[in-house]
Amino acid sequence: MLTITTIAELRESTYFWRRQDERIALVPTMGNLHDGHLRLVKEAKSCADRVVVSIFVNPMQFTDASGAGGDFARYPRTPAQDSELLERSGVDLLFAPAVEEVYAAGLGQTTRVEVPGISDILCGEFRPGHFTGVATVVAKLFNMAQPDVALFGEKDCQQLLVIRRFAAELCYPIEIIGVPTVREANGLAMSSRNQYLTAEERERAALLFQTLSWVKERIKAGDGDFARLESEAKQQLQDAGFRPEYISIRRAADLQPATEGDANLVVLAAGWLGTARLIDNLHVK
Ligand code: PAJ
Repeated sequence: MLTITTIAELRESTYFWRRQDERIALVPTMGNLHDGHLRLVKEAKSCADRVVVSIFVNPMQFTDASGAGGDFARYPRTPAQDSELLERSGVDLLFAPAVEEVYAAGLGQTTRVEVPGISDILCGEFRPGHFTGVATVVAKLFNMAQPDVALFGEKDCQQLLVIRRFAAELCYPIEIIGVPTVREANGLAMSSRNQYLTAEERERAALLFQTLSWVKERIKAGDGDFARLESEAKQQLQDAGFRPEYISIRRAADLQPATEGDANLVVLAAGWLGTARLIDNLHVK
C-alpha cells in the first residue's frame, strides 16, 4: 500500500491507473477505523480495480469552538493502527494530507459547497455549518482523487443525501454508493465516537437502535400517528438517560417530514449519552 500526503502525488498515481483504464474507488474517512469503515473498503474492492482511502480529520465540519476546539481536538487519531488495517484489507493507496494541504488558503475565506435545505434540518439544525464542511471537503477529495465511484455509510443518512445532491448538481461524473450500517452485537451502530462511552454506557447505548426498531415496527404495524410515535420514542430515550436532540420520521428521498401515505420512510435519531453524540437511522419500506 502506498501512503501519500500531497495532492500532487495523489494525482500522479491515479493518473497512471486511469491511463490503464482501471476503475478507481474512493472511501473518504476521518480515520480511527472500525469494521464499519472496513465494510466500505470491502465494497469498494468489489466494484473497482483500485481503492483509495483518505484519512483526514476535517476541521471545517467540526462546528464547536470556532471549528478547531473541543470535538476536533479530542477526535481519536490512530494513524499506525489505521494504516495496518488498510494494508491488510488490500487498499492500494492511503491519502493522509495535512490540514494545510487541503485548506491551503486557510479555513476562514475558503470556497465552500453549500447544499441548501437539507443541510439545515435534523443534524444540521443542531450543528450549523457542519454539512457545508462535509460537502466542501468531499468535493475537494473528489477533485483530488477523481474516482469513478465513491462509497459512504448509510449510518450517516443525511450526510449521504447531502453528498448525493451536490455530486448530481455539480455534475461530478462519480457513482455514489451507500453501504448498510455495521453494528455491534447489541445493535449499537459502530462509530469512532463510541470510544467516549464508558463500558456501562456502551451497553445502554444500544437503546438508540432498539428505540428506532420499536418505531419501525409500530409503523409497519399500521400506526400512522407519527407525532405521537416520535414523542413516545423521545421519552423512552430520556428515561434511559439520553439527551435526545431529535427522533423523527421522514421521507427517505429528501428527509422532509413524512405523512402516512409516504411509502419510503426513514426514522432518524441523534442524542447525547454521557459525552458522546450518537446518531442512527432505520429505513422503513
Ligand atoms: P467517518 O465518520 O470517519 O466515516 C467515514 C465513512 O464511514 C462515512 O461514509 C460513514 O458513513 C461510514 N461509516 C461510519 N460508521 C459506519 C458504520 N457503522 N457502518 C457503515 N458505515 C459507517 O463520515 C465521515 O467520516 C466524514 O464526514 C467524511 C465523509 C470522511 C468527510 O469528512
